[in-house]
Amino acid sequence: MPDVPLVESHGAKIPAIGLGTWQLSGETCTRAVIAALEYGYRHVDTAKMYRNEAEVGQGLKSGGVPRDEVFVTTKVWRDDLNDGDLQRSAEGSLKRLGLDKLDLLLIHWPNRDIPLQESIKALCETRSHGLTRHIGVSNFPVALLEQALAVATEPIVTNQCEYHPWLDQTKVLAACRKHAIAFTSYCPLGRGEGPRDPAIRKIAEAHGKTPSQALLRWHVQQPHVIAIPRSGTPAHIRENIGITDFELTPDDMRAISGMARDDGRIVDFDWAPDWDKAA
Ligand SMILES: NC(=O)c1ccc[n+]([C@@H]2O[C@H](COP(=O)([O-])OP(=O)(O)OC[C@H]3O[C@@H](n4cnc5c(N)ncnc54)[C@H](OP(=O)(O)O)[C@@H]3O)[C@@H](O)[C@H]2O)c1
Repeated sequence: MPDVPLVESHGAKIPAIGLGTWQLSGETCTRAVIAALEYGYRHVDTAKMYRNEAEVGQGLKSGGVPRDEVFVTTKVWRDDLNDGDLQRSAEGSLKRLGLDKLDLLLIHWPNRDIPLQESIKALCETRSHGLTRHIGVSNFPVALLEQALAVATEPIVTNQCEYHPWLDQTKVLAACRKHAIAFTSYCPLGRGEGPRDPAIRKIAEAHGKTPSQALLRWHVQQPHVIAIPRSGTPAHIRENIGITDFELTPDDMRAISGMARDDGRIVDFDWAPDWDKAA
């Protein structure tokens, strides 16, 4: 079993590699979760919006790993951020997942039409009322993260944001480090494009590893960074956790970080927050 490091954040111990599940559905999703548990994953990421919480829950149940050994994250969609709606969303997720308690509940995206203070208060209540062990946010630029932290009465343990070598996230990473919050990278493989990059392939070859392993190693070798690669392909799921038996050199790390470009962002919407500019 790979010895995946844990990222500690305000009492949470989060495995640095988790299985992403966006777009996985039905049997493929359940089988992916079972395969992940078999290969040593102890962290699974889903969301109400992925409409696969029941299948993820089925995989967790069939996988047979004791509940307290797996870190399960889900998210509240941006329409459900009012007081009351948010708590009901968490209860619905618990029911679909078949769990008594979540490990981590995130606000999936901020919503400028709903007061942040109200959403954060409701999020904090899900923790104080025992629906989840930990809470966090996703897609929060620095200013919004600071506002959330200022009003939160429970610790925020992560900010889950897009991150891969083609997107500079220096500012959000620095804000997370300042507050000792974990940074969770989504799209860690650049939605599957990353492993095809010739420069990444070259670095991977030098270490006798695959391009995906080099990319994921780059993520988790940065302090406080967690990566949640998605795959419905068992061979890829196994490959993606094979990142614990090598280290990238400081030159490799710098070369990969140097690939960021202005048009590197993949996930964007007209209702997205104002993103931080590259450093
Ligand atoms: N909070 C948010 O707003 C947000 C937004 C987006 C994503 N997320 C989370 O982050 C997770 C990961 O992001 P993502 O799914 O967008 O993108 P990703 O993990 O960067 O890339 C997924 C793609 O990479 C391919 N892949 C995986 N392992 C591979 C390997 N070893 N070699 C070659 N190709 C490989 C997958 O295909 P195969 O299935 O064939 O392996 C899939 O097409 C999501 O699933 C979700 O849980 C969160």
